[in-house]
Amino acid sequence: MILEATKVSIFKRTRMIEPRFRFRAVALLSVILVVGSSLKAQSAIGVNWGTLSFHKLKPSTVVDLLKVNKIPKVKLFEADPDVLEALMGSGIQVMVGIPNEMLTALSSSTVASDLWVRQNVSRYVVKGGVDIRYVAVGNEPFLSSYSGQYESYVMPALLNLQQSLAKVNLASYIKLVVPCNADAYESSIPSQGAFRPELNEIITRLVSFLNSNGSPFVVNIYPFLSLYGNSDFPQEYAFFEGTTHAVTDGPNVYYNAFDGNFDTLVAALSKLGYGQMPIIIGEVGWPTDGAIGANLTAARVFNQGLINHVVSNKGTPLRPGVPPMDIYLFSLLDEGAKSILPGTFERHWGIFSFDGQAKYPLNLGTGNRLLKNARNVQYLPSRWCVANPSTDFSAVTNHMKLACSVADCTTLNYGGSCNGIGAKGNISYAFNSYYQLQMQNSQSCDFDGLGMVTFLDPSVGDCRFLVGVTDVSSSSFRPVHRWVIPWGLIVWGFWVFVM
Ligand SMILES: *[C@@H]1O[C@H](CO)[C@@H](O)[C@H](O)[C@H]1NC(C)=O
Ligand SMILES: *[C@@H]1O[C@H](CO)[C@@H](O)[C@H](O)[C@H]1NC(C)=O
Ligand SMILES: *[C@@H]1O[C@H](CO)[C@@H](O)[C@H](O)[C@H]1NC(C)=O
Repeated sequence: MILEATKVSIFKRTRMIEPRFRFRAVALLSVILVVGSSLKAQSAIGVNWGTLSFHKLKPSTVVDLLKVNKIPKVKLFEADPDVLEALMGSGIQVMVGIPNEMLTALSSSTVASDLWVRQNVSRYVVKGGVDIRYVAVGNEPFLSSYSGQYESYVMPALLNLQQSLAKVNLASYIKLVVPCNADAYESSIPSQGAFRPELNEIITRLVSFLNSNGSPFVVNIYPFLSLYGNSDFPQEYAFFEGTTHAVTDGPNVYYNAFDGNFDTLVAALSKLGYGQMPIIIGEVGWPTDGAIGANLTAARVFNQGLINHVVSNKGTPLRPGVPPMDIYLFSLLDEGAKSILPGTFERHWGIFSFDGQAKYPLNLGTGNRLLKNARNVQYLPSRWCVANPSTDFSAVTNHMKLACSVADCTTLNYGGSCNGIGAKGNISYAFNSYYQLQMQNSQSCDFDGLGMVTFLDPSVGDCRFLVGVTDVSSSSFRPVHRWVIPWGLIVWGFWVFVM
């Protein structure tokens, strides 16, 4: 991006140079271009920062986490003012998302798009502000499971927003993009890649728009989902460590699902005449909990393999030496409030847990050999809600269901880190999840007398019973919670301890 801008401005300047100097200018230009292409911009490793969590870290704590880990780029799913304010002055490059639900309004009027740009972009793009580089218009709006409900709004919204950016002189600095799920294209072998027939027309218009604005195509690629959804999928092919199930495609051989998927997109773009269009990976990652195949080892091996592969600049058979422009890992933090419609792993994509603790060693290639934990995280007091030992388990089913319908219990599932803690463990886990979600409100551990608070951490092995965090500053929050500790509970806690 930066190189491109430099090239353009040099070109413009040389046009004004007198003829006798032209040769020198052209020579200088070619030197710069040669140097420029050998200094090929390395792909950056960014992260997605989603905020669908019951236990949100303070945005400033998250920005500090990004900074200590030297993460240069972040992708947001919406323009949350607290998040954007925290990013001010950080130097981190930002992709701001627009939720699909807003596309209708933005497609219908430039008044709406002007307002959106003013409130969510231009206000922040000032000296010492937020370095917004991309606006993601919708999030996977062509996903097959949406049955086309957002499709017709995408192009009109893009055109309106482009006008609105131009009005505030940001149209060349900030690029509009549309993150697509990899289900927008299909093929059994990469070279035959093509967009879904029903999307052909709209994608043709989209890529023509992207191309005329110098914008990249943004795609989300998930080998985990291929493995999860298909028992015949060869497991090694999902990773980057070599495979006995390589895919041969004419003269090309694919050793991992990521490259195969990427080149399927390259082929699909080529068919539309845009085989050279830059590609950004908007989401890619591996979950660690809640389902079979979602575990710490697999996530570490996948993410490290991916990062090493991308920063090696090897590229793919159809784009040798040209890795994706940037990749954004999915995700920075676990999001316990996400819908589990996609699967019970959905709340566990973070490279950090919800409270900013690194889940496994990962070298992002940015200078630190390992991930660094979030600093100054403000936890609620160290106490948990568990099943009263005298609980009659038969009476508890409904309480447990209710607790788990609100709070996150997905680690209890088969393949999850808390599967196998027993029936009573299950109940306690559910009670605690709910209690923490309710910010340890004492009534929320009642469950008709079946729950009780303990001060002894009930975590067992890899199964962590969480303590919530608070984004309220400690000074304003402490007094409220200090006084609600009933002395009786401390006696209960002691009783559990001696049991
Ligand atoms: C700015 O973005 C936020 C978050 O997505 C949204 O709620 C708000 O409506 C947007 N502002 C305008 C004027 O559209
Ligand atoms: C972790 O997941 C991978 C596949 O994603 C699987 O092969 C491996 O056996 C799992 N490890 C454990 C300890 O469950
Ligand atoms: C605990 O809950 C999980 C998830 O619902 C279930 O698979 C498991 O069998 C339960 N364990 C016992 C001992 O009931």
